[in-house]
Amino acid sequence: MPEMGIEEKGLETAEKPENGVDKNNLGNEGQKVILQVENLSKTYFQGKIPVHALRCACITVIKGELLAIMGPSGSGKSTLLALIGTLEKATDGKIILDGTDLMSVPEKLLPRVRREKIGFIFQHYNLIPTLSALENVELSMRFSRVPKKEREGRARNLLEELGLGDRLTHKPSELSGGEQQRVSIARALANKPALILADEPTGEVDSKTRDSIVRIFKELSEKGQTILVVTHDPEVAKECSRVLRITDGIIKDN
Ligand SMILES: Nc1ncnc2c1ncn2[C@@H]1O[C@H](COP(=O)(O)OP(=O)(O)OP(=O)(O)O)[C@@H](O)[C@H]1O
Ligand SMILES: [Mg+2]
Repeated sequence: MPEMGIEEKGLETAEKPENGVDKNNLGNEGQKVILQVENLSKTYFQGKIPVHALRCACITVIKGELLAIMGPSGSGKSTLLALIGTLEKATDGKIILDGTDLMSVPEKLLPRVRREKIGFIFQHYNLIPTLSALENVELSMRFSRVPKKEREGRARNLLEELGLGDRLTHKPSELSGGEQQRVSIARALANKPALILADEPTGEVDSKTRDSIVRIFKELSEKGQTILVVTHDPEVAKECSRVLRITDGIIKDN
């Protein structure tokens, strides 16, 4: 076992559960609170003009929830995901993910937290075009200290579970949109994340493929995987366990 680097030691400290936030991470009915967002705000500046993309958002998410986030274009949905995903810095507020206070994680440790705790699914798949389906999934585990044999096995199993067992060696350009999105779902799952963030994952696919992606999300959620999905599609939202609505950066119901 290699010696722990400074990075790892720092993270151990950062991962200690926060006092007073949710000591046992248990909700009212004994369910585990996996994500707690408190008074989260993001203000961008266009020159000197402030753009309040998100205002004082408070969200509590229980493990295994499939939560839809809806709202008009420009209302702050992607901003909310980018903040929870640590891709952007919040102006104010707090995010506790799986016992880790994300705001207090030092900048240089954020990539590791992101890699280990969060899986991303994007509208445009964002697969690496020169790599096969198998390699795309495997790559996401490469920096997570998963041994090579296990990486390959896990990638293969995930792709097989998602119905892509006969597409392992295909490059993204040799796959349909729905197949590429399933590869990106497998990639998001590879590191067994506490949370999956999906930004309009069905925005580019036909209704049949959309339904199969939603079915996959529901099955994952039933197995305890927490998923936040931004969508414009009421057909997607109606299959989710809860819907959050955002208008002008304000979350309307929770
Ligand atoms: N980097 C940035 N700089 C300045 N303003 C930004 C930036 N990113 C987003 N915004 C603004 O913040 C607001 C929220 O943007 P966001 O991308 O979160 O909207 P959205 O709800 O995801 O919209 P869509 O449904 O079109 O994807 C918008 O008014 C947008 O113009
Ligand atoms: Mg968006």
